[in-house]
Amino acid sequence: MNSYRTTIASPVLAGTGLKKSYSLTRALAGVDVSVSAGESLAVMGPSGSGKSTLLHCLAGIERPDEGQVLLAGERVDQLGEPQRSELRRTRFGFVFQSGQLLPELPADENVALPLMLGGMPRRRAVRKAREWFPLLGLAGKEGRRPGQLSGGQAQRVAIARALVGDPQVIFADEPTGALDQSTGMEVISLLVATTRSQGAALVVVTHDENVAGYCDRTVRVRDGRLTEEHGMPEGAAVTNAVAHAAEAAGLGHPADSYDADARSDR
Ligand SMILES: Nc1ncnc2c1ncn2[C@@H]1O[C@H](COP(=O)(O)OP(=O)(O)O)[C@@H](O)[C@H]1O
Ligand SMILES: [Mg+2]
Repeated sequence: MNSYRTTIASPVLAGTGLKKSYSLTRALAGVDVSVSAGESLAVMGPSGSGKSTLLHCLAGIERPDEGQVLLAGERVDQLGEPQRSELRRTRFGFVFQSGQLLPELPADENVALPLMLGGMPRRRAVRKAREWFPLLGLAGKEGRRPGQLSGGQAQRVAIARALVGDPQVIFADEPTGALDQSTGMEVISLLVATTRSQGAALVVVTHDENVAGYCDRTVRVRDGRLTEEHGMPEGAAVTNAVAHAAEAAGLGHPADSYDADARSDR
């Protein structure tokens, strides 16, 4: 019997050699990054380091100047805007910091919107949308307009909207940035759990180490380059949580002590 039970999941989304400049500003200077189905990836780094540009290139919002973006083996970066727009609508979901819900629509219709844009009849789309409300702790909030929801509730509606079309990848740019700490933790844990249970990949841009701690893996961006990566692919949230606990207890990251041992052997 084969004792190697490790299944190396092939990435659902991969960017290689990504470069992007805005006139004189080099936002991405050659980035390789990938994420697998069911995996959550945190992208951290200082303001202006290129995090959002990376997310936009991976999500087909912008085209990189150089490099490739592959979604399930298909080149995204070579598609024209109409096809990328279609791809974003059908295979990706998006959660932003705030202000992404249409204020004049009730919560259920906000969630149903991507389905209706895809041509699904309104009644069916709203029915499908409502299935998400209990799962996100929003039962009874279906008819509320965004102005009648708390910040945390509005983000959970946004998560439902990102998931309703059964996307392969969810992109979240500072999804907890406008929330207080405890509401933020509620929202990120729901986002990671629901995305994983759908078998989708999740890419989260965040400033917050606590938010990153909920993700399987973290990469750090500085001056348009990845500087560090930790955590393991394949549902390694437990490993990651253990590493964070060890760091908090002053024990250092397991990878650091491994490096230190290697160096002391010399
Ligand atoms: N549309 C744009 N036009 C000009 N410069 C931009 C644009 N978008 C981003 N930049 C610049 O590219 C760099 C990276 O920006 P961004 O990816 O938004 O960083 P982050 O999300 O990490 O804060 C910054 O110097 C920013 O000013
Ligand atoms: Mg940004």
